[in-house]
Amino acid sequence: MAKIIAGVGTSHVPAIGAAVDNGKTGNDYWAPLFQKFEPARAWIDEVKPDVCIIVYNDHAHAFDLSSISTFSIGTCESFKSSDEGYGPRPIPDVVGDPRLAWHLCESLIMDEFDITIVNDMTVDHGLTVPLSIMYDQPEAWPCKVIPLAVNVVQYPQPKGTRCLALGKALRKAVEAYDQDLKVAIFGTGGLSHQLQGPRAGLINAEYDEKFLNDLATDPQAVAEITHTEWLRESGSEGIEAVMWLVMRGALGDKVDEVYRFTHCAASNTNYGMTILTD
Ligand code: DHB
Ligand code: FE
Repeated sequence: MAKIIAGVGTSHVPAIGAAVDNGKTGNDYWAPLFQKFEPARAWIDEVKPDVCIIVYNDHAHAFDLSSISTFSIGTCESFKSSDEGYGPRPIPDVVGDPRLAWHLCESLIMDEFDITIVNDMTVDHGLTVPLSIMYDQPEAWPCKVIPLAVNVVQYPQPKGTRCLALGKALRKAVEAYDQDLKVAIFGTGGLSHQLQGPRAGLINAEYDEKFLNDLATDPQAVAEITHTEWLRESGSEGIEAVMWLVMRGALGDKVDEVYRFTHCAASNTNYGMTILTD
């Protein structure tokens, strides 16, 4: 039987990936953040998940506005880095787990989550930066990865309650799988940031701390945050953090916080990380 061993929440700021790729992680701007990654890297090196389900949003790289799916799962053997304008990132291909991915699709669709099945796709910074944060620059990624993309780019976006319910259904699906696998689930994006318009540069660190507290102890309260509140309090891109609810839903009611920090600012974002276990 497969088992969810932990949930990881992390922002997926593209400049963090660029810092890794360009050897800038030790400079004055990035070193304080990368030092805070060390305990998370030591933790994942210890628990060694076989598979990471990474819940992230594509930023109009693999998918564009010609067709918008609310929830998508990548069933490919492998995934190349998207070209986001500077060429694909110089990272290993991300290796998928098609058998588990198809099992998840089947279980979720039977549970009335109408997942889009994606058989050919690249992965952008939303997925690859969390891998770099946890694993640095390996020759090959040490785990298989299942991309679970959530539309948070185009309104209407899914509600928090739906994301939390999806996480619960994912746990059921993982636990019904017939292979002994250690599965970690990542929720990515956020925390508060706004990249556009008159409020560009907005950060609301107080709101982010409350989000992290509630995510651990009262996820239902986070799930009930309205789109208007996300937009007002967390900025136009802050709603990415709704994807952390998928991760939280895949864990039990009570969780232990193994590690947590915020770092303000990383690029335009209040960077946040949490590692939770049942
Ligand atoms: C930034 C953060 C994001 O989540 C993103 O997708 C793009 C940019 C930023 O902080 O610059
Ligand atoms: Fe983003």
